[in-house]
Amino acid sequence: MVYQNIIVEIRGKVGLVTLNRPQALNALNEALIAELNDALGSFESNPEIGCTVITGSEKAFAAGADVKEMAEKTYVESYLGRFLDGWTRIAETRKPVIAAVSGFCLGGGLELAMMCDFIIASETARFALPEITLGIMPGAGGTQRLPRYIGKAKAMDLILTGRMMDAVEAERCGLVARLVAPDRLLDEALAAASKIAAYSQPIVMMAKETVNRAQETSLAEGARFERRLFLSMFSTEDQKEGMKAFIEKRKPAFRNR
Ligand code: HXC
Repeated sequence: MVYQNIIVEIRGKVGLVTLNRPQALNALNEALIAELNDALGSFESNPEIGCTVITGSEKAFAAGADVKEMAEKTYVESYLGRFLDGWTRIAETRKPVIAAVSGFCLGGGLELAMMCDFIIASETARFALPEITLGIMPGAGGTQRLPRYIGKAKAMDLILTGRMMDAVEAERCGLVARLVAPDRLLDEALAAASKIAAYSQPIVMMAKETVNRAQETSLAEGARFERRLFLSMFSTEDQKEGMKAFIEKRKPAFRNR
């Protein structure tokens, strides 16, 4: 696929996707979402890649779904055309994905960032779900994921008022995992991604899957799921290697087996 709305690079074991529609502050149109899915799919099937970073520009991670593309849509068209199906596939990525956010991260942009496993933000980042101002509500998981990240009270505040939240507030309330100076953003995200990519890939993927279970199920069910996957890890060569390397006081050489 030829990419026109994103830039795709490989940095060591990390896949890097830069959203690239500067003329529209990276508004997410259907073509961009299809390209993003294609890039994530190629990283998923590439055994050399262990983690992905999605970033935008200094001014905008993404200012939302593309309002100009959506404005005239009808219900039947959207239904028959499976509008938003592509967004759901992003959330189903099995290898970890980090969002590196600078500037505006609004509407569908924030929904995309929340589909990633965690957000590293520049001090310039600004977050909102402003859909209410357009006569709609969030439609790509925002009403479900935001309360899980930051609790009901603050999620209601943001979704019902559409107000913007700065990076300090976003970090304080748990939306953002790490806050960094603007010129450190990409380095910090790539360093975190490289660190993850150096671990055992199947173990990392199982850890991601298990943490995500916590959002979807009861504590008892989640703990049972964790126990099953935890015990299964003792069938991997990487568990043997990781623990042996610790005992022998050397760095482990994981082989993704
Ligand atoms: C389409 C957009 C856009 C968007 C900005 N642009 N956001 N185009 N969809 N979401 C375009 C503008 O129309 C403009 O194009 C250019 O990008 C620059 O934007 P300006 O508004 O001139 O920049 P600025 O004055 O700096 O204001 C920045 C801004 C504002 C505060 C971020 O652009 C804004 O409010 N954008 C919309 C934010 C929003 O409502 N997002 C939610 C979308 S709904 P021209 O051609 O005029 O230069 C959504 C629903 C998701 O995301 C649910 C399902 C996926």
